[in-house]
Amino acid sequence: MERQVIEILEKYGQEHILNYLKLLSPQEEKNLQEQILKIDFENLKNIYEGTKNKANIEEKRIEHIHYTDKEKLTEAEKNNLEEIGKQIISSGHYAVITMAGGQGTRLGHSGPKGTYILNTVNGPKYLFEIIVDTLKVACQKCEVTIPWYIMTSRENHEETLNFLEKHNYFEYDKNKVKLFMQGELPLVDIKGKVILDNEKKIKEAADGNGGIYEAISKNGILNEMKQNQIDWVFISNIDNILSNFVDPLLLGLTIKENQKIAAKSVAKANAQEKIGVFCKVNGKAKIIEYIDLPQELANKKNEQGELLFGEGNFGNYLLNRSVLDDLAKTKLPYHAAFKKSDYLAENGEYKNSEEPNVYKFEAFIFDAFERYDNITILRVKREDEFAPVKNKEGVDSPQTAIELYNAKVVKSRL
Ligand code: UD1
Repeated sequence: MERQVIEILEKYGQEHILNYLKLLSPQEEKNLQEQILKIDFENLKNIYEGTKNKANIEEKRIEHIHYTDKEKLTEAEKNNLEEIGKQIISSGHYAVITMAGGQGTRLGHSGPKGTYILNTVNGPKYLFEIIVDTLKVACQKCEVTIPWYIMTSRENHEETLNFLEKHNYFEYDKNKVKLFMQGELPLVDIKGKVILDNEKKIKEAADGNGGIYEAISKNGILNEMKQNQIDWVFISNIDNILSNFVDPLLLGLTIKENQKIAAKSVAKANAQEKIGVFCKVNGKAKIIEYIDLPQELANKKNEQGELLFGEGNFGNYLLNRSVLDDLAKTKLPYHAAFKKSDYLAENGEYKNSEEPNVYKFEAFIFDAFERYDNITILRVKREDEFAPVKNKEGVDSPQTAIELYNAKVVKSRL
């Protein structure tokens, strides 16, 4: 190892890596060295230190957040808002990003989540294909081909690209589709030490969907959007098969409310539902993720007997491009999840871990929203827009999603 690399390892308490040198071929050593020089260990140290201070939500001023209920708008209001949005979409100022960098471990599918297939009333459909179906309908309505960006991660980029090529992008205009890779962060053990994987490199994982801001800037997507005069970008999760991501009404409402950020919500099904919730914390719009919301708060009701944290987030966000410009260089906080990970032991054995043994750090896309004074929220009906494919069985599984999808298809045929 070069002196410079050894100094980095020593400075950041990662000298244990030197114990592995005896296991490495010259090429492996070179690869590891290159990787070490690329990792921002100062950042990693700060993130790891952050795991020691638990955020205390209860100490903050939490309030209900204003939202517009789509059901309560009159036909005239809806038409008016749709007209405002449609004009912008039709003139080519709107793009869509699908966040597909996650691993879908809960679903038990080994490939990228978008390559998962569902048997629907319209025949077998891949998740990516369902997105293209939705895009095609919207493009026809707005008489424009909407640019489609897909965020991948190192772990699934090649596979995603090959899959879409093989299926000819489900006949969407290939020139309007672009994949880009998000960043990664090393996993660290309870003491903040990095671990090695079976390729004898430091084990890294995608840095959460909050990595999107840095990724679109680094990969030239933001510049491309600027050049093509894209003013509004809709960002959504890969796994919601009813996602309505070309939504003129939401765009119209956001413009009318003079906001730069919008999101859609559904009424939370019950206090236990695993979805993030919208609220105001210390006067700013915020989504509190389900893992960060203590059960006691999740159960809390307001004077009307409704859940205080009842406005559920389902991963549908509309952002003005100026927001993406602002956020390109901002660091978001990281959330740590303690997980099980295989690792290379110092004796060269590749080991399974029975117990959680590493922290995985993820930034959340919506943590950026509280930097703005306010956001537009449109509450929609769950059966119209939210059918997630998350778990192998039970709630939010392929089966529940297919039922919702089929019901919507059947309704539209009536
Ligand atoms: C997410 C939301 C949650 C919301 C729920 C609705 C976050 C952090 N949480 O939860 O508030 O109620 O959806 O279904 O967004 N992804 C990446 N790169 C990553 C990690 C994730 O692209 O590094 C993508 C995934 O592919 C997916 C989306 O982000 O499309 C959300 O994934 P995940 O992190 O699994 O969040 P959920 O638990 O589904």
